[in-house]
Amino acid sequence: MPKIHITTPIFYPNAKPHLGHFYTLALCDVQARFNKLRFCNDPDSKVKLTTGTDEHGLKIQNVATKLNVDPQLFVNQLSLTFKDLCAKSNVQYDRFIRTTDTDHVAEVKQFWKNCAKDICINEHKGWYSISDETFYPSNYVRECLPGGKKVPIDSTTDFGVIDKTRHFVNTDTNNQVKFSVEQNYFFKLENYRTRLINHIEQNPDFIQPLRYSLSILTFLKQGPLNDLSISRPSKRLHWAIPVPKDKTQSIYVWFDALCNYLSVLGPLPKIRDPSTEEHELMKNTTHVIGKDIVKFHCIYWPIFLMSANLPLPKRVVVHAHWLNNGVKMSKSLGNVVDPIELLDKYGSDSLKLAILNNSSIEQDGNFNEDSLLEARNGVLVNKLCNLISRSSKKFNPAHAINYWQPLFKARHGCCKKVLSRIKRKKKPVTTVVYKNLQAIEALIEWLEKNYIKEMEAFHYQVVTTKLITLLNLANEMFQDMTPWNLTDVRDLKKRDLALFIAHEAVRIFSVYAQPILPDLTEELFETMLISEDERRDLSLCRLGYGSWYGQQHEDGLEILTRIK
Ligand code: MSP
Repeated sequence: MPKIHITTPIFYPNAKPHLGHFYTLALCDVQARFNKLRFCNDPDSKVKLTTGTDEHGLKIQNVATKLNVDPQLFVNQLSLTFKDLCAKSNVQYDRFIRTTDTDHVAEVKQFWKNCAKDICINEHKGWYSISDETFYPSNYVRECLPGGKKVPIDSTTDFGVIDKTRHFVNTDTNNQVKFSVEQNYFFKLENYRTRLINHIEQNPDFIQPLRYSLSILTFLKQGPLNDLSISRPSKRLHWAIPVPKDKTQSIYVWFDALCNYLSVLGPLPKIRDPSTEEHELMKNTTHVIGKDIVKFHCIYWPIFLMSANLPLPKRVVVHAHWLNNGVKMSKSLGNVVDPIELLDKYGSDSLKLAILNNSSIEQDGNFNEDSLLEARNGVLVNKLCNLISRSSKKFNPAHAINYWQPLFKARHGCCKKVLSRIKRKKKPVTTVVYKNLQAIEALIEWLEKNYIKEMEAFHYQVVTTKLITLLNLANEMFQDMTPWNLTDVRDLKKRDLALFIAHEAVRIFSVYAQPILPDLTEELFETMLISEDERRDLSLCRLGYGSWYGQQHEDGLEILTRIK
């Protein structure tokens, strides 16, 4: 009775959603739906998908102040854009968590208290930029000399006592920085470094893909971890959760945000208790994250959990980024792809197929709209929907299925054995048909062996490629057999074979593809009269398996339209 929890990072709502956010959501939604499919016969199984918005922090505080609006009202509005993205993407989440939710605020305070033994207050000295609201390391700092020249600073100088008229900037934004000293709470990460190294070494799947696991290990083995600042003075950051028993300090946004993964499960004592479902869900959590936030999820987060005596997640899966025509998407370059526009135009199934079939979590993906047209028109309309409509308009596929299904089933879907029946007749099938049938059979065997493994590893592209090949083979075979010409009474069995294979390809494609294309596959199942139970049964993904199905559509079928 597996209990599975899949999480997306919670999104900063201050910018409009972009394709990267859609990607993270799609990866997780497909994983959750795949697990529901896989365990649909186990009534005790549970699959939970959570997402949400990360609403505290200086960025929101500053914009709200500038606009003179209450930050709470401001985030109420902003988080709706992400809820809308989920709705339009057909993402079936169980909880959309907002870090301003009251249960989350209480959970964060409790979590802080549970980590108290590893938290201490100390001075935070460093180069602070008021306009950027952040500290910069000294190698990012330049002194501006009177003539305008900028020179690196001497790190042995005590900048706490220097002449206040000297001017410094940072190399990132060129904004002024001042050496400042403030009180912060710090988390003693070093207390858990060895334990974390051991955990990662003993669980090579804890961080996936493997190269991130290896680079984190190399980093951890380099030497002691610095204390991590986990609070800011509340006079500077007030749009945040206050530190328990110290109103002068606010909790740092990342400490707050990471806790969302606990708040969505329930109170901490429940998660800690090994006899509870909450505990099982935590232990079987898969965090899906982009490669820019690895350090937070693979170092800080497990260490915080160890400190609070809570179970670690099962794994952190890291994905690469999306580029736009080879260039990294960024607001300043104005090349951010808006997923809402694409969803409105193409629909969520087509966008998911295009994105997932043209990327792998290992490598940055390159977006261009042609791939969307190809997914929609080339694959879904021409190869998938057309196959079903061509084989059900002029003919009655139910008759064909009724004849061929038992023959294939009796031979466990083995084409060779079935073909020997036709071969014995006067007019054998062509080499194309013979070869394609064998290739279809091999593909089906491959899917039977590898589908679960590949989907679990987020190798969706591997699966979609195979599924599209299945459609290609069936289409080619249909074209080669020209069933519309097979009118002679001696040819009818052969004609029926074309109809049967076309339907079987669509049926098997749909069972496997339903986590990616939930709407379209549901329509196809309806069209073919496949029962609810048999739609979800992976063990029926063989030629000839399952109950009798299929119906004629004399007026033709328009399941999906082409997009210009
Ligand atoms: N709020 C933090 C996460 C806190 S989780 C406890 C955050 N938010 S974000 O909105 O900036 O990013 C959310 C996710 O989108 C991250 O996983 C990030 O990697 C991902 N993406 C942002 N830009 C991306 C691309 N261009 N391509 C793919 N995903 C990218 O970080």
